[in-house]
Amino acid sequence: ARADIGVTGLAVMGRNLARNFARHGHVTALHNRTQSRVDELVEQFGSEGDFVASTDLESFVASLKRPRRVMIMVKAGKPTDAVIDELVPLLEEGDIVIDGGNAHFDDTRRREQALRAKGLHFVGTGVSGGEEGALNGPSIMPGGSKESYEALGPILESIAVDVDGTPCCTYVGPDGAGHFVKMVHNGIEYADMQLIAEAYDLLRQGLGKTPAELAEVFRTWNEGDLESFLIEITATVLDKVDAETGKALVDVIVDAAEQKGTGRWTVQTALELGVPVTGIAEAVFARSLSGSVDQRQAVQAAGSLTGPTGASLDGAEAEGFVDAVRDALYASKVVAYAQGFDMIQAGSDQYGWDVDKGAMATIWRGGCIIRAQFLNRIKDAYDKDAHLASLLLDDYFASAVSSAQDSWRRVVATAVRLGVPVPGFSSALAYYDGLRRERLGAALVQGQRDLFGAHTYGRVDKPGTYHTLWSGDGSEERQDSEGQ
Ligand code: 6PG
Repeated sequence: ARADIGVTGLAVMGRNLARNFARHGHVTALHNRTQSRVDELVEQFGSEGDFVASTDLESFVASLKRPRRVMIMVKAGKPTDAVIDELVPLLEEGDIVIDGGNAHFDDTRRREQALRAKGLHFVGTGVSGGEEGALNGPSIMPGGSKESYEALGPILESIAVDVDGTPCCTYVGPDGAGHFVKMVHNGIEYADMQLIAEAYDLLRQGLGKTPAELAEVFRTWNEGDLESFLIEITATVLDKVDAETGKALVDVIVDAAEQKGTGRWTVQTALELGVPVTGIAEAVFARSLSGSVDQRQAVQAAGSLTGPTGASLDGAEAEGFVDAVRDALYASKVVAYAQGFDMIQAGSDQYGWDVDKGAMATIWRGGCIIRAQFLNRIKDAYDKDAHLASLLLDDYFASAVSSAQDSWRRVVATAVRLGVPVPGFSSALAYYDGLRRERLGAALVQGQRDLFGAHTYGRVDKPGTYHTLWSGDGSEERQDSEGQ
């Protein structure tokens, strides 16, 4: 046996990761259900490194050095379970099975437990960066046992992209931690994309700018605080002209955003954990609304839902609006990331993972879809205070958001007036205002709950749990054990 690592499942992500391993000097075993994929890879890219082609799972496993490192790159869900079931009887104690797909962290927890009972390590790892990243340097988020990371970590770190000499790969935490963090990464990706789309839509409507002009705006923004992969590709997409019609491609693409599920999982999990990831939730719902094609067509056909659509800004109103939208985008983005990191903390607390948030910001600086300069700021914030109650409390972010807030409020107010939907901008602002408010309307909600369901409330002036006899004499009773 001479292979350092094996990859089974050679669709585009698996193939590119296998090539990346081989290019970094790791002897890489290859397996695929359809043999032709193995042969093609060796034929086309065999010169890039040392590959061991196999025709069946038995010889694939036999070609691996111990502890065996087997990376599964098949579709999440049942196909992953099917491969694991076939693989496990061929493995021996201490071997490591790695799932590099976008698995749900609950599945990863289940699989890790099942394999641990058999003396095997199961590593659920997030891999971000798409095809290009897989080949040239992704961001990698591995979970599982610490012991497995000792044998696997160096290989993963060698293929991850490097930022300032640090690989964008680190041990995340036990069992489902890696896939959980990858899920939140994708949730943040949704929020980021939604905010950018709102900025685009609002500038287009409000200022009547063309896609090409807006591409220029995004290019300029990419030189400042907003510098990121997503802003960069936004300019590229907006610049693209459709060969067939000569129109901007963005005007030819159907405006119904699809989703494969990781954003939805983030929100479902956040609801269970009770973490208000409003930016991610609004992004998922905005995709759903855009995808409600029949309903939208019915509304268009009826023409009965009126609004100020079509209005744009003039004169003084347009003055400085581009900069204001940039500020609103930045402030909303800070909120979305603050919420995402809160969610990582909540997951870590819930499952006892002890995830280092600063380390997550560090490995997201390169390789992944949300890669950005901005992540350095988050890393710095957690370096200064690992237990920060909210990213918004970090000096840099607090002052960035405070100085952006006049613009932020102006932009949301303007969007409301123009009838341009900005659920991301406005919910981020509502979150910010909710968080900083000394007293919230929630006191009234508690009063209502007590009235109709005797659900009790706490008092600001003394400890204990209280209930008012609303339909009795209106007096108040203390209801906790000390009051009995
Ligand atoms: C990544 C991406 C990737 C994800 C796509 C598509 O980190 O490389 O997050 O994993 O599959 O972004 O996601 P949707 O189809 O849900 O938009």
